[in-house]
Amino acid sequence: MSEGPSTDPRRVVVFASGGGSNFQSLLDRFSDPAGSARIVGLIASRETAGAVDRAQRFGVPAAVTPVGSAEEEATFLLDALERWRGELIVLAGYLRLIPEEVVKAFLGRIINIHPALLPSFGGKGMYGSRVHEAVLSAGVRLSGATVHFVDEAYDRGPIIAQWPVPVRSDDVPQTLAARVLETEHALLPTVVEALATDRVSLDADGRVCWTEEWFEADRFQVGDSGCFGLVDKREQK
Ligand code: GRF
Repeated sequence: MSEGPSTDPRRVVVFASGGGSNFQSLLDRFSDPAGSARIVGLIASRETAGAVDRAQRFGVPAAVTPVGSAEEEATFLLDALERWRGELIVLAGYLRLIPEEVVKAFLGRIINIHPALLPSFGGKGMYGSRVHEAVLSAGVRLSGATVHFVDEAYDRGPIIAQWPVPVRSDDVPQTLAARVLETEHALLPTVVEALATDRVSLDADGRVCWTEEWFEADRFQVGDSGCFGLVDKREQK
């Protein structure tokens, strides 16, 4: 894996609502000041989120989304992102919809991780155990993790990377969730590294474009040089 350009680390702000194990995997991966990315802040939707404790232990500033109008929430988020000079937003189990103003300001620089193979088993209300219950009741043989760019709707944006997790006949939601979460903890930092070193981006047509194949410790091949997603609008004439 060739080293990316030697520039300042990309400044990453993580949004979380739960225990924050994905947040922790990012803190662990990007703890080297000479690395390609640096976790500079946490936005939590509630102060009791385990992610807040993790931030405090790691000395990363945290802010809790206040209850208020949509405009107040957008202003709060944009102020925090400006204060921390955030360049990339990572949603890691954040249960609130991101205000449109924030999505627009960070289009192509805001990603989310979902514990299933989108577009299946995603959308409003599909989080936590509900996702794995739906996967098991559907009888599919593969689940997995998806990292995608965020747009105005839940779990709908262009897919950046996915990795499969086999479903077992004796799975219950908790055992499947644990196996998927283990894959998330490796996939998400890999995608953040690729974004921080400009190996993947969102183009003007909403397609996800990789500059090169991207391997992570011979476990993942995410990315492949070229663009994925929407059929090129020029071909649709
Ligand atoms: C993860 O399964 C993630 O895919 C989903 O919410 C969960 C967050 O878990 N969006 P954690 O708080 O990172 O442990």
